[in-house]
Amino acid sequence: MSIPTPHIAAHDAADIAKLVLMPGDPLRAKTIADTYLDNVKQFNTVRNMFGYTGTYKGRPISVMGSGMGMPSIGIYSYELFKFYGVEAIVRIGSCGAYDPKLKLYDVLLAVSAYSESSYARTQSGDYDDAYTYPSTVLNQQIEAGAKALGIPLTKGVIHSSDVFYREHFDDYKTIHREHNAIAVEMEAFALFHNARVTGKQAACLLTVSDSLVTHEATTAEERQNAFTKMMEIALSLT
Ligand code: HPA
Repeated sequence: MSIPTPHIAAHDAADIAKLVLMPGDPLRAKTIADTYLDNVKQFNTVRNMFGYTGTYKGRPISVMGSGMGMPSIGIYSYELFKFYGVEAIVRIGSCGAYDPKLKLYDVLLAVSAYSESSYARTQSGDYDDAYTYPSTVLNQQIEAGAKALGIPLTKGVIHSSDVFYREHFDDYKTIHREHNAIAVEMEAFALFHNARVTGKQAACLLTVSDSLVTHEATTAEERQNAFTKMMEIALSLT
């Protein structure tokens, strides 16, 4: 494959920064670019999966939507790592709490991703890999950034699920217990795997948007505020 790739229309690797922040929602990518970045240039519109490159405090950074689920982030992150020279991708997403100690809007940093997904197996023949891992270097930088900003960060295993709507809702309790997973989302496992097979770096920051324990959920406005904290941490990586 060469560039442009089937899903990212940028013609030149120089159009995309070495560090990419990936929210799930492409419109959130646009909002982040509009709110935080200077000298913004859009590099992708394929399927409306918008991607933007700009500068933050003078340093280059890109932001692009991943879509929902591992097949989607799997495609975009692979193309970014493999064909556009991207060195690091930080997912900035939301999650549902499995751990009763977590509160809505808490900011989490994944130390590993557990999944039942066949993504790693199918992608590279990793037959015994139920866990994938973020970059320790990136995680250290993220922790340092959060500390400098005075934003508390909860570290833990997260569950990357292929299924949002389960027929057996209580299954989450088993995953919480057996895998020590504190929260659920749907992308990190594939992102971490792609970073490993391409020799690149990935990390995942999440805000708690709902709780499977208490069934509380956030409003769009509340989510936006919590998202701001997570963004500040992620931008401190530039
Ligand atoms: N399940 C899966 N992914 C999620 C959830 C959830 O409850 N909340 C936010 N992302």
